[in-house]
Amino acid sequence: MRAGIVGLGRMGRTHAENIVNNIPSIKLVAACSIFEEELIYAKENLLVEETYTDFESMIDNANLDLVLVVAGAEVRPSMVKYAIEKGVHTFAEKPLGLTISEIEEVVEVIEKNKDKTKFQLGFMRRFDEDYLYAKEIIDNGDIGEITYIRAYGIDPSSGLDTFVKFAKNSNSGGLYHDMSIHDIDVIRWLTGREFKRVWATGANFARPELDNVGELETGIAQAQLDNGIMVHLVAGRNAPHGYQVETEIMGTKGWLRIAPVPEKNMVTIFDNNGVKRHCSASFPERFKQAFINELSHFVKCIKENKEPKVTAYDGLIATKVALTCKKSLEENKIIEI
Ligand SMILES: NC(=O)c1ccc[n+]([C@@H]2O[C@H](COP(=O)([O-])OP(=O)(O)OC[C@H]3O[C@@H](n4cnc5c(N)ncnc54)[C@H](O)[C@@H]3O)[C@@H](O)[C@H]2O)c1
Repeated sequence: MRAGIVGLGRMGRTHAENIVNNIPSIKLVAACSIFEEELIYAKENLLVEETYTDFESMIDNANLDLVLVVAGAEVRPSMVKYAIEKGVHTFAEKPLGLTISEIEEVVEVIEKNKDKTKFQLGFMRRFDEDYLYAKEIIDNGDIGEITYIRAYGIDPSSGLDTFVKFAKNSNSGGLYHDMSIHDIDVIRWLTGREFKRVWATGANFARPELDNVGELETGIAQAQLDNGIMVHLVAGRNAPHGYQVETEIMGTKGWLRIAPVPEKNMVTIFDNNGVKRHCSASFPERFKQAFINELSHFVKCIKENKEPKVTAYDGLIATKVALTCKKSLEENKIIEI
């Protein structure tokens, strides 16, 4: 399948390199970016045939079967709509857009073209082996009825200075929309339930200057799902040891935890400093196989004319919950969804 990609930042490079090195069913033939150095990288390192600075030209000229939309969320809705309407199967990173109304428009276009053009959103945790294993255990009824879920999604402190530097111009949609959105989706997927109410709060202890730009270094949200399941979401950008993604699920008959210690691998080092386990350092490392699996799933769905597991509607709902957390933080009150 001939694929193009727009956006070759951290996430775009991860997808592009995964395709080139690990997904033989996709041939990356075109790349689009507003940065010249990224297009040079695409030609030299990814060996793409064509590069573009304008997304619509890539869609119109590169004869693509599918496109990966990995540019920022501020340009994503118009790009997804354009590609879908031109009949190019589209994979888009999360979030699908920055506002509910623009995402609703995208969902409408995707629904209208559903019979001829496939769409999948990048909630890769649904394709991670550990989360899939946990889901199987839950679905088997092994831990009984879920009563409580605690989810951590915290980026390493090594990225904090860069985050602070660019926070003013950031279009991430805020901490909950950028980080907790994965936990929100995972919780909907694992429980089959919807969020009913949230209360959020946050603080900037390590970098108080983030107060001035309305961003958060650490934030929490307490929530309740529509059947009473209780939830704590903890999101942040300041984990000193590495990339901390952790989910704990309590049930009436058992508990389970997914990656409470973010271990890099199965290696333990014994030396004169004691005993060490190295830590997972970043999202491309922790979810490497999940990123490969999600794209392989999308290709399979296109080939077999099946509905992908993650829909635009999932993106819309996760954004609604995340933006309600933000509103709750700003208004300092519990908000019903
Ligand atoms: N699934 C995940 O775990 C995960 C992790 C990180 C980022 N993301 C998402 O991926 C997206 C990209 O994140 P990033 O960290 O790579 O961002 P980034 O800022 O590093 O890269 C953005 C890229 O978009 C390109 N771009 C922007 N506007 C463009 C336009 N008009 N035309 C063509 N190209 C344009 C830029 O050239 C750049 O290559 C974000 O929306 C983020 O939420 C997802």
